[in-house]
Amino acid sequence: MSIPTHPKHRDHHMPATTINLLGRDMLSLADWKRHEIAAILDTACAIKADPASAASALAGRGAVLLFEKASLRTRVSFEIGIAKCGGHAMYFDHAENRIGQRESIKDYARNLERWVEVIIARTYLHDTVTELAEYAAIPVINALTDLDHPCQALADLLTLREQFGDLSGARPAFIGDGNNVCHALMLGCAVMGVPLTVITPRGFEPRYGVVQQAHALAAEHGTALTLSNDIGAIAGCNAVYTDTWVSMGQADEAGKRLAVFQPYQVNPALMAIAEPGAIFMHCLPAKRGVEVTDAVIDAQTSVVYDQAENRMHAQNALLIHILSGGL
Ligand code: CP
Ligand code: NVA
Repeated sequence: MSIPTHPKHRDHHMPATTINLLGRDMLSLADWKRHEIAAILDTACAIKADPASAASALAGRGAVLLFEKASLRTRVSFEIGIAKCGGHAMYFDHAENRIGQRESIKDYARNLERWVEVIIARTYLHDTVTELAEYAAIPVINALTDLDHPCQALADLLTLREQFGDLSGARPAFIGDGNNVCHALMLGCAVMGVPLTVITPRGFEPRYGVVQQAHALAAEHGTALTLSNDIGAIAGCNAVYTDTWVSMGQADEAGKRLAVFQPYQVNPALMAIAEPGAIFMHCLPAKRGVEVTDAVIDAQTSVVYDQAENRMHAQNALLIHILSGGL
């Protein structure tokens, strides 16, 4: 058996003071240490404050975006973000044929690594991104799977940090479907010490495996993680986060879901249960009038477009760390 020499296969159990993220995959925030995520958020803030500082940070780097599902924010923020840092991104539409159909995922990964420096993939099956990462010598970034959406959670942590000065003041609640965005937020908050309340209808809780993983990370980091079916659990929270009730690939369940989720709609009456002045968050796309009303998403306290902007800064910071070793 050959000994892997690429940086992504190195031992990453380094002292907390050493930040070397070269070659790392971003499949889930559960795989990352608190100081590593904090370093990415620091870099993201620096780039946001001074974009010129990153203007050539990805010079000569090529990225391929393999997307099985639709996207606005993820596609544009990666493509434009990489260009703003001097790199090149190529979009590959996999809506019609899933990754692994035309040739094996192994061969796919081993071809792509000869041309580009990073693979960014949005897939249905989470196993597709883990298999790409297993075989590719270059980093693989999860741009959303049915299970997780770590780039979204990175941007959300950045947004919470901006809103509350630092993460220690944030007390978010996620209300709605226990889906990929909820999972990513649970894992990211658990690692970063952000107390999170997750409120879902019965039967739509986050997946058992993710709940176990998030509880283990929360225990390790001394983070409070509360799961409830009761909208009253939103009391005391200073950020209210929701997502669509019908994720990509779930159109067949739409009718059933809409009825069950109605009491969990984020409207002014629900916001009134949270702390006065609580901010509103949504990964977008939103179904206005369904999971959130116009009065909430258009309010001064809504930070949804900050979250969207922060996708680009957070992802650029991530790419700069894993491809260039930092700014
Ligand atoms: N939030 C998010 O990932 O948006 P897109 O699906 O438009 O990329
Ligand atoms: N939960 C949503 C998120 C979209 C960004 C979906 O998977 O469709």
